Amino acid sequence: MNTVENIKDLRAQVKAWRMQGLTIAFVPTMGNLHDGHLALVKAAHRYADKVIVSIFVNPMQFGLSEDIDNYPRTLAQDKASLISVNTDLLFTPTADTIYPKGYGDNSYVEVPNISDLHCGASRPGHFRGVATVVCKLFNLVQPDVACFGSKDYQQLQVIQTMVEDLSMPVDIIPVEIIREKSGLAMSSRNGYLTPEELAIAPALYKTLQWLSEELRKSHQPRDYAALVMQASEQIEKAGLKTDYINLCHAQTLAPAMPNDKEIVILAAAYLGKARLIDNLPVSL
Ligand code: PAF
Repeated sequence: MNTVENIKDLRAQVKAWRMQGLTIAFVPTMGNLHDGHLALVKAAHRYADKVIVSIFVNPMQFGLSEDIDNYPRTLAQDKASLISVNTDLLFTPTADTIYPKGYGDNSYVEVPNISDLHCGASRPGHFRGVATVVCKLFNLVQPDVACFGSKDYQQLQVIQTMVEDLSMPVDIIPVEIIREKSGLAMSSRNGYLTPEELAIAPALYKTLQWLSEELRKSHQPRDYAALVMQASEQIEKAGLKTDYINLCHAQTLAPAMPNDKEIVILAAAYLGKARLIDNLPVSL
């Protein structure tokens, strides 16, 4: 696996592959890779001849109160993991490479409405940072397809909307959530959890499963508000602090309406130093 840090080397490799008629799949990451990321790389291999992974801890998607300096950086370990899944090229740009003028003065991509809901309400500006860096990475890598994990369900919808709205020539491939045996969705943020907190954390997914069952059992008109309140109480009783738990339309992520057939439960909760997110699509 070749690693490049600058745009010139990245473009040279992409051009060489294009001249050979090869297709390219892309997996953008912030590093500290786990099996969920490796599942994205494995999926990417099914869609293209070459797989490029980027590792870039994007300052633009972190809020002022969020600790970007302590975000886990494990490059040597990440490289070994990427080699084990036959990654063809790793792109590790610096912040100066991505934002030469500083990201405050950078042009940006705003995906309206959907970016302000759920995690966007708790983390103002987060999805502007995500959409901007993903757009920039797409322009640099020019992939045919790009793979994103379904754990970040809202991020996936924001990116899908950006790609459609701006007619970007890339297919977005959602890859299913990889979970620990306990049900906890794999995430770099799980590394912040103590052993005691790791025992509590699976309650988030268990509650989503409970809520999904209740939704399927109950008949019209479903009392969404009461069910969500009970779910939130279950999360708190287990020892987490609910940030939000919302029932939404599966694509627009607007509040679910009584007649919606495809909905998704989105949830975020605090546990120790971590903010955990999870989701569960439900067909009614
Ligand atoms: O999901 C992530 O790791 C990040 O939000 C992404 C898509 C790499 C953009 O920085």
